[in-house]
Amino acid sequence: MGTSFTRIGVKDKGIVLREPSYIGYNNKIKEYIFYGAEAKTVQGKTPNFIEIVRPVVNGILYDFDGQVAYLKHAIDTSVKPYLNEFRLIKPPLRAISCVPHIATEIERRAVEESLEKAGCQRVIMVEKALATASGCGFDIFSHEPQFIIDMGGGMIELSIISGGGVVAQKTLKNAGEHMDKMVANYCYLKYGIVIGESTASKLKERLLTFKESKEMVEVRGKSLETGLPKSIKMKATDMREALAPQCNAIIDSAKELFEQSPPEIADTIYKKGVSLTGGLASVSGIDQYIAKELQIETHIPTRHLDATVYGLMQLGKQPESLRKIIGTI
Ligand SMILES: Nc1ncnc2c1ncn2[C@@H]1O[C@H](COP(=O)(O)OP(=O)(O)OP(=O)(O)O)[C@@H](O)[C@H]1O
Ligand SMILES: [Mg+2]
Repeated sequence: MGTSFTRIGVKDKGIVLREPSYIGYNNKIKEYIFYGAEAKTVQGKTPNFIEIVRPVVNGILYDFDGQVAYLKHAIDTSVKPYLNEFRLIKPPLRAISCVPHIATEIERRAVEESLEKAGCQRVIMVEKALATASGCGFDIFSHEPQFIIDMGGGMIELSIISGGGVVAQKTLKNAGEHMDKMVANYCYLKYGIVIGESTASKLKERLLTFKESKEMVEVRGKSLETGLPKSIKMKATDMREALAPQCNAIIDSAKELFEQSPPEIADTIYKKGVSLTGGLASVSGIDQYIAKELQIETHIPTRHLDATVYGLMQLGKQPESLRKIIGTI
């Protein structure tokens, strides 16, 4: 259950759902009426009795009822069809999910309960960084530490994993979606143009690159002075300038994490490098940028976008591993 996207995988079937984590509530009829991509598309265009809710904020469950409704809908549409293979007795739904390292016990319980309320008879919770590491193809029980930077929409989690647990961790609550705000703010201050967050997000995905680029994109918005439509041309270099503070923050956090880690760990990590996952790992040249700034090798696993949910699916097939992580299952 990510801030920007919710992903569901079904054992032996693969990923069956990858939808924006948005849901629309109609205050007149007291019902949820839009889910996922549809709710995201209508955001900002609805009458005021329709509210678009983001159930997860910065990786943490924020709107419990919205989340339960979202999950019920997601399970009904993407998971239940697979139960039709069982003609007579439908097996109970068992789920494995995860929360970030910084989630409190209450926040972790809330996620567990939301899944139970959405129809899962059994819920197992693991740490997100372990799931992501497993999805990157690492043996999470190895005593060779692994360094992973998961850069999503609502949080950037820098984790060092070793021996089946997290040995060092740092979290930034400003991630991809905060970058959208920074882009909108930059356009406002530099070009006097007001743009919406979804425009800013598309602009970021199109223009942000750490490679040489002469690309230029026409941006339409509202003039700050007249309130009338106005368009400007934004360059790739503008984008990098707009997001430089955020990129620096990632590098600084990685350096701090190294400083706080025991010397043996830091040494192995320097030899083995860092794996980048999450939506921001798709930014072209981000691996070279991080490699240069940290003087460390970088890897982007093929499944970097879905590493966490892949990892959960993998752990789901390994009851022994789960037992080692959470005690009993
Ligand atoms: N090519 C790209 N360039 C820039 N940003 C991108 C690109 N592709 C995806 N993103 C950004 O990645 C973010 C989504 O990443 P991801 O799907 O990993 O988030 P999430 O798992 O839902 O969130 P979190 O793990 O933080 O709770 C969005 O902010 C999106 O704009
Ligand atoms: Mg994520």
